[in-house]
Amino acid sequence: MTVFADLNPPARLLMGPGPINADPRVLRAMATPLVGQFDPSMTALMAETMALYRQVFRTQNKWSLLIDATARGGIEAAMVSLIEPGDKVLVPVFGRFGHLKAEIARRCGAEVVEIQAEWGTVFTPEQIEAALKQHRPKLLAVCQGDTSTTMLQPLNELGKLARAYDALLYTDTTASLGGNDLRADEWQLDLVSSGLQKCLAGPSGSAPITIGPRAEEAIMRRRHVEQGIATAADVAGPGRRIASNYFDLAMIMDYWGEKRLNHHTEATSMLYGARECAKILVEEGLEAAFARHRLAGDAMAQGLAAMGLKLFGDQRHKMANVVGVYIPDGVAGEAVRRSMLEDFGIEIGTSFGPLHGKIWRIGTMGYNARKDCVLTTLAALESVLLANGAKIATNAAVPQALACYRDAAQTARKAAD
Ligand SMILES: Cc1ncc(COP(=O)(O)O)c(C=O)c1O
Repeated sequence: MTVFADLNPPARLLMGPGPINADPRVLRAMATPLVGQFDPSMTALMAETMALYRQVFRTQNKWSLLIDATARGGIEAAMVSLIEPGDKVLVPVFGRFGHLKAEIARRCGAEVVEIQAEWGTVFTPEQIEAALKQHRPKLLAVCQGDTSTTMLQPLNELGKLARAYDALLYTDTTASLGGNDLRADEWQLDLVSSGLQKCLAGPSGSAPITIGPRAEEAIMRRRHVEQGIATAADVAGPGRRIASNYFDLAMIMDYWGEKRLNHHTEATSMLYGARECAKILVEEGLEAAFARHRLAGDAMAQGLAAMGLKLFGDQRHKMANVVGVYIPDGVAGEAVRRSMLEDFGIEIGTSFGPLHGKIWRIGTMGYNARKDCVLTTLAALESVLLANGAKIATNAAVPQALACYRDAAQTARKAAD
């Protein structure tokens, strides 16, 4: 028998592109005792979780629930439930997570059309409209915040466009929900999925999702209740059976809805955590949370720029909660990340594909969208960069970030007067 030491991970400040440190309230909620999956207290908590996520997604959609999986599971559930083999799917790709959607759509048997924007930029509505017009897809699948490039795709016009060309619109908000504005109903988003481990201040492992009426109709056409629990009343829909059992949104809706038809066993501790994430956000207020993310993100970006570092990408479209910064010439990017981690206990991120080794990504999100996290990270990074021979402006980053916070406090005081 091999017996290992007790669980004792090192203390870390997670300032990468996510995961981030979970809010202690979420961790406490996850340690709450379990109840059975059909216990009235549990089904009441499921209903509360739905009500909370309606507020988070800014929707009246009945179906605002959790997929028991990491955010990628939410994407898979959305796509496998909407896409039938041969369907045309349009994916605007402006980073790694666009490629992920294209790949998942292909696995669902879709005919995928990709349009590409240079990494560090986003699409104009006109570019997306031109592709909708030319290709007439059944589904438009787009990221809101693509963490790999730190860019935020504006979505407000896309719902209207998708409807004009008779396409459904699916959006992945894993990296952006809770820190950047999102209005599922106003923007006419048919299906939105997310994750907890970024601006929602939780661990990965649960994927909140909201399903609008048009998506619901498309999914319910494909409803086939599992043998063994189906009754004579459960007539199969005319559409093709959804290819995944676990990610079958029709069966998951039957489980979360009045029928309470058994599907998986709800991941109770994750539900407690996801519910607490939404409760924290709703208590703070969405606008206040967006402002907190904006301020922390601005302070971090301005601090990095004050050091003399160059920011990556079109700053007009930067996500509030993460910034990309070029690794200065002659500096070993991985050595800097290692020293940040080993000497200061701070994690910052690298990136993928064409950006690997070129930029670092520094997040200020969820529980870590805080002044102390911003200042500590900037101070440590300045010290590590100097030790690694970078030519940077000294004693500029922290004062600049502090000035940002002072200005914001002053503006708030004036507004309150
Ligand atoms: C935009 C986006 N989508 C999807 C994912 C995948 O999430 P997960 O690792 O929780 O499956 C990530 C993870 O970083 C992401 O940033």
